Amino acid sequence: LPMATRPLEFAVTRNENAKTPEERDAILAAPGFGKFFTDHMVDICWSARGGWHRPRVQPYGPIALDPAAAVLHYAQEVFEGLKAYRHADGSVWTFRATANAARLQRSARRLALPELPEEYFLESLRQLIAVDADWVPSAPETSLYLRPFMFAKEAFLGVRAAEKVNYYVIASPAGAYFSGGVNPVNIWLSTQYNRAGRGGMGAAKTGGNYASSLVAQAEANDNGCAQVLFLDDVEGKYLEELGGMNIVLVYKNGTLVTPASDSILEGITLQSVLQLARDRGLATEERRVSIDEWRQGVESGDIVEAFACGTAAVITPIAQIKAKDFTIGEADAPAGELTMSLRDELTGIQYGRVEDRHNWMLRL
Ligand code: PLP
Ligand code: COI
Repeated sequence: LPMATRPLEFAVTRNENAKTPEERDAILAAPGFGKFFTDHMVDICWSARGGWHRPRVQPYGPIALDPAAAVLHYAQEVFEGLKAYRHADGSVWTFRATANAARLQRSARRLALPELPEEYFLESLRQLIAVDADWVPSAPETSLYLRPFMFAKEAFLGVRAAEKVNYYVIASPAGAYFSGGVNPVNIWLSTQYNRAGRGGMGAAKTGGNYASSLVAQAEANDNGCAQVLFLDDVEGKYLEELGGMNIVLVYKNGTLVTPASDSILEGITLQSVLQLARDRGLATEERRVSIDEWRQGVESGDIVEAFACGTAAVITPIAQIKAKDFTIGEADAPAGELTMSLRDELTGIQYGRVEDRHNWMLRL
């Protein structure tokens, strides 16, 4: 077999200092988001000469890096985010994991990183769940957030693609991403900062895009908003996405409209929600949408709901957009009806309560 498709035999080293069941249960009772980590992690090496090798599951813990490791200087890194859900019968499932595998490959290509074969990606999730399954919570709306990531480990200071790279998976029990749960959030419109630009890496899930969002996100927080909305970098007119989620507008006739752009992340939650809407006979449009269209649509009553969507955020209703010199909608607007109904259907599929008619769920 060619190097890249050799079956991977994972070496498993159990964590001697794993949390006790009592400690774990205390964490799972109130996990928040991204604050606690399971007992193990996956680590696979890649080198230009040897391809993917040395797959292992090992105790969760620090990664030793040479101070000249390329990622620390030139940010050659990509990541993914997906969740493991516990169903009523105790089984553990992921949602559209092959789509995350494919997106990790696209991100890797953009960052001149090696592409992890889909089967290795899926196997890395199975291997981690095999040892950390007890960390998948079972309370409503909770899950185990899985964070696969890959970065340049080679030590050198020249600027070129690294020839030594590692891929990891860590996992973190998760409740609601926003402290207000599924209550509507207010969004800050960033006019000073863009997230990404034409020909850049906005469509890749790479750390730099999040670094670029941080000052704008801080500005949002200072203005009482939970997330920041970015506009296009050329005209500063068209909607892109939020710092960590995609955006959808709902028109009076039931049509869902979402921005088309080469510089936003291709959201898996977004594509799934659009599919569920089409299954109901609703129209969906991926096209340019200006901030003026949103403002005028809300004023005229043509746009009746808006929501954010992503793995961490699931579907979160949007109440108000705040900009420096205008607002759209009301800060205390209730969640939209279609928004919440699509949310119920999506989470119903994810938690095994609603038929998975598109074959999106994969048992781990
Ligand atoms: N946009 C950004 C910038 C994100 O970080 C995310 C979350 O992963 C999304 C959109 C939504 O993507 P997905 O639904 O695949 O999680
Ligand atoms: C995700 O939803 O998976 C993300 O990466 C976004 C971030 C807000 C956690």
